Amino acid sequence: MDIDTTLAEARERIRACDDAAALKAIEREMVGKDGVVSALLASIPSLPAEERRAVGQGANQLKQAVLDAVAERTAALESSAVEAQRGAGHFDASVPAPAVERGSLHPLTRVTRELEDQFLSMGYHVLDGPEVETDFYNFEALNIPPDHPARDSQDTFFIEREGEGPELVMRTHTSPVQIRAMQRLTPPFRAIAPGKTFRNESVDASHEHTFHQMEGIVIGEDISVGHLIGAMKTLLRGIFNRDLDVRLRPGYFPFVEPGFELDARCPFCETGCSVCKRTTWIELLPCGLVHPAVLSAGGLDPERWSGFAFGLGLSRLVMLRYGIDDVRHLLSGDLRFLEQF
Ligand code: DAH
Repeated sequence: MDIDTTLAEARERIRACDDAAALKAIEREMVGKDGVVSALLASIPSLPAEERRAVGQGANQLKQAVLDAVAERTAALESSAVEAQRGAGHFDASVPAPAVERGSLHPLTRVTRELEDQFLSMGYHVLDGPEVETDFYNFEALNIPPDHPARDSQDTFFIEREGEGPELVMRTHTSPVQIRAMQRLTPPFRAIAPGKTFRNESVDASHEHTFHQMEGIVIGEDISVGHLIGAMKTLLRGIFNRDLDVRLRPGYFPFVEPGFELDARCPFCETGCSVCKRTTWIELLPCGLVHPAVLSAGGLDPERWSGFAFGLGLSRLVMLRYGIDDVRHLLSGDLRFLEQF
C-alpha cells in the first residue's frame, strides 16, 4: 500500500463529506481499531527489517494527517451550520434582548404641554402664529412706534427680500399673535400662544438668539386688573402646585395700558435664596390691560371691548422649574443634558 496515495484519497473523501456521521465513519475506517492505520502497524513485524522503521513512521503520519483533516472539516461543517441557522431566521429565546433606549420629552415641551392643558381647562384656545412676521404684526399693530428701541437692528433679525411686499422680521416676541387672535376669533375669547421667538442677542448663559415665550390674551367686556391677577394666580397654582402671593410693579410696554411686571412669592424659600436673589420675590411675567390702539388694530371697538395680556418667558420658567443655570443648554441638542429629563 502506498501511504501517500492512501492519505491523498482519504483527504479527498473527507473534504467532500458534508455530514458529521459520515466523517466519523471515515475516521473509524482510517484510524479505528480495525482501520487502515492499525492494519499497517500490525503488518510491521512481517516486513523486512529495513522497511519497518519507514512504515511505522508513515503509519503514524497518516494517522495524524487524517485526524487533522477530520477536525478541520468538522469545524467547517459546524460553522456553516450556524450560518445556515442564522440565515433561516433562527431565534434563540434565551438570548437577552438588546436594551431599548427610551426617549423623553424635552423640558420645554413638557412645560408647554402642562401649561396648555391648564389653560385649555380654563377655556382658553391654544394658538400658533408664524415665526416670520410682518412689521405690522410684530410692531405697528402693537403700538410700537417706528423710533421704539425694540425695532433697533440690535434686537431684531430683519429678513431681506427681493421685490415688493411688506417688511419681514423673525418675530421678536409672541405678542403678534394677540392681533391675529383678535382678527380670527369672535370676542369674548381667551387664548394662549406658546412658541419660538428670536432676537439678535450676543449669546451668553442668560441670552439666546432663539428662545420661547407664551403669550396670553383675554378679551371681554369690562375686563379689569382684578381678572388679570386672578388668572395669574391660577397659572401659578398650575406651575408650582400651590397658592403663591403676587405683586404688581409698574412696567412699560407700548401695547398695554397700564402695564405691569408681575412678581410671585419665591416658591423655593421663605426667607430668601439664590433663586430669588434673597428678595423672596421672583419676576414672573410682564402683563397689562390691552391698549385701546391695539384693540383697534385688531379690529375691535375699544369702546366696547377690553382685555388683558401677558407674556410668559417659557425658557426662563423651564430654567427656574428644573434648576437649569444656562439657557444655552435648552437648544444645544446635547444628549448629556437631555437624558436627565
Ligand atoms: N412681548 C413682550 C416682550 O417680549 C412681553 C409682554 C409684555 C407681553 C407685556 C405681553 C404684555 O402680553 O402684556 O418683551
